[in-house]
Amino acid sequence: MKTRILKVAVLLPFWISGLLATAQTPVYPDEKEPLEQRVEDALSRMTLKEKINIIHAQSKFSAPGVPRLGIPELWCTDGPMGVRPEVLWDEWEQAEWTNDSCTAFPALSCLAATWNPDMALLYGKSIGEEARFRNKNVLLGPGINIYRTPLCGRNFEYMGEDPYLTSNMAVPYIQGVQSNGVAVCVKHFALNNNEINRHTSNPIVDDRTLYEIYLPGFKAAATEGKAWSFMGGYNLFRGEHASYNPILMNQILKGEWQWDGAVISDWGAVHNTRMAVTGGLDMEFGSWTDGLTEGASNAYDNYWLANPYLKGIQDGIYTEKELNDKVRRVLRLTFRTAMNSKKPWGSMVSDEHKVACRKIGEEGVVLLQNNTGILPIDLSKVRRIAVIGENAIKMMTVGGGSSSLKAKYEITPLDGLKKRIGNQAEIIYARGYVGDTAGEFNGVKTGQNLQDNRSAEELKAEAIRVAKNADVVLFIGGLNKSEHQDCEGTDRETMELPYNQNELIMELFKANENLFVVNISGTGVAMPWKDQVHSILQAWYLGSETGNTLASVLLGDVNPSGKLPYTYYSSLDQCGAHKLGEYPGHKGIDALGNEVFDIPYNEGIFVGYRFIDKNRLKPTFPFGHGLSYTTFEYGKAEADRKIMEKNEKLVITVPVTNTGSRAGAEVIQLYIRDLKSSLPRPVKELKGFCKVVLQPNETKQVSFTITAEELAYFDDAKHQWVAEPGKFEALVAASSADIRTKVSFELK
Ligand code: GLC
Repeated sequence: MKTRILKVAVLLPFWISGLLATAQTPVYPDEKEPLEQRVEDALSRMTLKEKINIIHAQSKFSAPGVPRLGIPELWCTDGPMGVRPEVLWDEWEQAEWTNDSCTAFPALSCLAATWNPDMALLYGKSIGEEARFRNKNVLLGPGINIYRTPLCGRNFEYMGEDPYLTSNMAVPYIQGVQSNGVAVCVKHFALNNNEINRHTSNPIVDDRTLYEIYLPGFKAAATEGKAWSFMGGYNLFRGEHASYNPILMNQILKGEWQWDGAVISDWGAVHNTRMAVTGGLDMEFGSWTDGLTEGASNAYDNYWLANPYLKGIQDGIYTEKELNDKVRRVLRLTFRTAMNSKKPWGSMVSDEHKVACRKIGEEGVVLLQNNTGILPIDLSKVRRIAVIGENAIKMMTVGGGSSSLKAKYEITPLDGLKKRIGNQAEIIYARGYVGDTAGEFNGVKTGQNLQDNRSAEELKAEAIRVAKNADVVLFIGGLNKSEHQDCEGTDRETMELPYNQNELIMELFKANENLFVVNISGTGVAMPWKDQVHSILQAWYLGSETGNTLASVLLGDVNPSGKLPYTYYSSLDQCGAHKLGEYPGHKGIDALGNEVFDIPYNEGIFVGYRFIDKNRLKPTFPFGHGLSYTTFEYGKAEADRKIMEKNEKLVITVPVTNTGSRAGAEVIQLYIRDLKSSLPRPVKELKGFCKVVLQPNETKQVSFTITAEELAYFDDAKHQWVAEPGKFEALVAASSADIRTKVSFELK
């Protein structure tokens, strides 16, 4: 008995202090409590210094959270096509981990070319699983800037020239990524349409063009995709940097769209404390600053939103009003990701991801031309295949800028063809030309030795000799993500293929007419040899499964169903940005008197096929173009009514039949034409698309629903969307230049 009393006496103080401690330990709202309640609770517990810390980076890709309150760090990672390998704490250079090799998915220009939102959802889910597995909270993608000029170095990372296609492909991608408890960071908001002078470009854009062309993808991402974060671009807009532009961030994104996410700067896009405070920026990353010059390491306390901001508040220059809004948005982002205990575990380079990579690629490859039907290759007739071109052997997952990857594997086109064809035919390879032999980016090496000291003449002579003796000649060329060839930070300098490929293609055609070209690129190129070459395939940067994807399309295991997400201009004269607009712009000054490059977007809303239609031009290949190994017939489009009230829906139905001998998928496109409008409008605008798979002789009824929204234009004088009563046409098409059937109706 005595022992027991003694024990209680000894333990009593611990019990009491334990009870007291419980009383003092803050009881955080449980995860099932409303998000806003948790945000307000956390905010109320934070000191001023903790609030300042949480809104800027602590390392190259992370922000500190609030350790005292158990709020974890927030980790970001590139990129939109795969999860970037780990870099050192404060450097771009590799940390040289051995477990961070990823699946390299196809470039987003390829995803857009699938015209299949199911592929976008699959893509987002898959890449989100890899980001989750790497324990990243924010995936720095998708990039969805509109393709204004074929010269933009990052077109390969984006989703083409049309806002409706971009919107409908971005939303499922976002939903897929975020289903893993990983935030997307939609970029680069907004008007980052060229890489030349990317830190000082200042697009001069009227509101009509802004709202009809350059904002819709971002609006869909924010309001339908519910993106948890956005990335501000490097460029300026109306004299102020995009990353903290009051019009873009406060008036439009957080005002008109009522978006509750966090705006993250592009890396090094912040140059001013006052503007960053008041211009709607929530997190500062990547600033090169010790307050004055570039490059001081661990200069995080010198960030514009770090000590200078803290001092500004302490000196009474700023209240904590803006700071609290920033902190709320960062906390919301953290609760949705790092503190979301319901996240799945993710996976890395799984079989499912390999399948996804290949499926997206196979659906994105575009058969541009197939005059004599020598595609798909028939191995019962073809005994010897000549494969010519550096892009048949060059790995493309390394390079191109921040989207560069350390892929677990990458099947090159030549390897894929050899694996698929085996001994069914002889494959003879010739390089044809030497382009980029680097094979390294930020310390990631492909391991390939592409060095070749032969002269251009020797290389060409070998290619012609190999071509002469083959049954078919497969030229695999294009661009290669080296500088000026589809690469961040640089634009293309012409539309011409580099390394004298055009001349080589013409020589090869003379040597053997059974020539077809696989163009690997992320942006449009000039194809002066188009009429000499039987078949042309637009292949994209297809990622880890490149060779398998291409082989399955070339050999007909898969029937190609991709459609161009942008116009293939035959010259820059056919592009509004160059014919009417300015590019790359002329010298000007920004709001603070710094030198910038003003770029008047004089072409306005007439971007891509909108410019082609207005001027009745004939591009090399039109927006929305893509062939199949089978053929499709469209029946007569019917409308369920001739007259629609503003609050009504009109349904267009069209029968589509596979009139060929093999199954295939067709993307039926719906364009709307406003026959009479108070403001000038494009001849037609994409307002619907549907990809259907059809067996031979199968017919499906495809239907589109039209509301006043699809008929409206943005009236910048009234600052609102206007659907004007009057006559319209619904054009049902296989491409923007191939209208198959149409139906008229009237809006009351
Ligand atoms: C880069 C890119 C951006 C990328 C970021 C981090 O400069 O503009 O897309 O996510 O910096 O690498």
